[in-house]
Amino acid sequence: MKRFEGRAALITGGANGIGFACARRLADEGATVVIGDIDRDAAADAASAINDLGTPSASRERVAHAVECDVTDRGSVEHAVAETVQLCESLDVLVSNVGVASTVSFADTDDAEWERQIDPTLSGSMRVIRAALPHLLDAPGGGAVVATSSVNGLIACGGVAYSAAKAGVINAMKNLAAEYGANATGAVGADSGWVRFNAVAPGTTATRVWTERGAEGERDMREFGALTAMGRAGQPDEIAAAVAFLASQDASWITGVTLPVDGGLSVGPLARIIALDGS
Ligand SMILES: NC(=O)c1ccc[n+]([C@@H]2O[C@H](COP(=O)([O-])OP(=O)(O)OC[C@H]3O[C@@H](n4cnc5c(N)ncnc54)[C@H](O)[C@@H]3O)[C@@H](O)[C@H]2O)c1
Repeated sequence: MKRFEGRAALITGGANGIGFACARRLADEGATVVIGDIDRDAAADAASAINDLGTPSASRERVAHAVECDVTDRGSVEHAVAETVQLCESLDVLVSNVGVASTVSFADTDDAEWERQIDPTLSGSMRVIRAALPHLLDAPGGGAVVATSSVNGLIACGGVAYSAAKAGVINAMKNLAAEYGANATGAVGADSGWVRFNAVAPGTTATRVWTERGAEGERDMREFGALTAMGRAGQPDEIAAAVAFLASQDASWITGVTLPVDGGLSVGPLARIIALDGS
C-alpha cells in the first residue's frame, strides 16, 4: 500500500543527505515531492535522480520537482511554497529539514556566528512552517509536518548554538501540535483544518557533513557511531523511514513528539559500555 498516494510533500534542504533520502522515500510511497533547496542546481539534479528511478511498482511513476528555497529569506520561502502549490495543487506534508552546525567554540561565537546557526536551523524552520500552514490546514485528512531536529536537541553533544536551535525546534513542534491539533471551529474529527507536528532527532548519520571533511570526518563519524548502543552511525534512509512513518496516516494519533533515530545514542551515556559488557 502506498501511504502517500495523492499527497504533495515539500522537503526543505532536500537536495542532499537526509532530505534527499526523505524525498526519495516519500516519492517511492506515492507522494509528489518538491525538493526545496538553497542550491538550485543540486535540487534539480536530485529531482531528476528521483524521476529517473522510474515506476516503483504497478502504480504511477515517481514524481519530483525542484524549487529554489533559502530558508533564511522570507521572500524565498514564500515563493517556494507558492511554487509548490502551483506545481502540485496542494501541500499536505512538509519536511522541514535544514540545519546548520559549526565547530566554532562558544567563546568565539559572536552574534553573527550565533545567527548563522540559529537562523536557518530554528527561525528558518518556523518561516517555512508559517508559509506552508494555510495549505497544510486545507489538506484532506489533515496536514503533517516533520521537522529534522537532532540528538543535539535532546542531550549535550557539543555545539551550543546549533543544539539550542534543535531544542527549540522540538519545543516548537509541541506548541504547534497543541495549537493546530484540532479544527479551529472545534469540530473534532473534521477532515481538514488541523495539522500534526512531529520531529525526528537523528544521531550521527552518514552524509556529506561528515564525509566532506575527508579522512578526519570519516573517523569522527565512526567514533561517534561507536558510542551508540548499536555501535554504528546511521544511514539517511534510516532517518527517512522514521520521517515517512510520522508523516503518514500510520501516525494518525501522534502529534507533538520527537522520535530519536540514533541507534540508541540518547538512551544514556553508558549504552555502549553496557552493550559491550553484556551486563
Ligand atoms: N548528518 C548528521 O549526522 C545529522 C545528525 C543530526 C541531525 N542532522 C540534521 O539533519 C538535517 C540534514 O542534514 P544532512 O546531514 O542531510 O545535511 P546535508 O548537508 O547533506 O544536506 C543539507 C541540505 O540543506 C541545504 N541547505 C543548507 N542551507 C540551506 C538554506 N538556508 N535553505 C535551504 N536549504 C539549505 C543544503 O544545500 C543541502 O542540500 C539538518 O537539519 C541537520 O542538522 C544531521
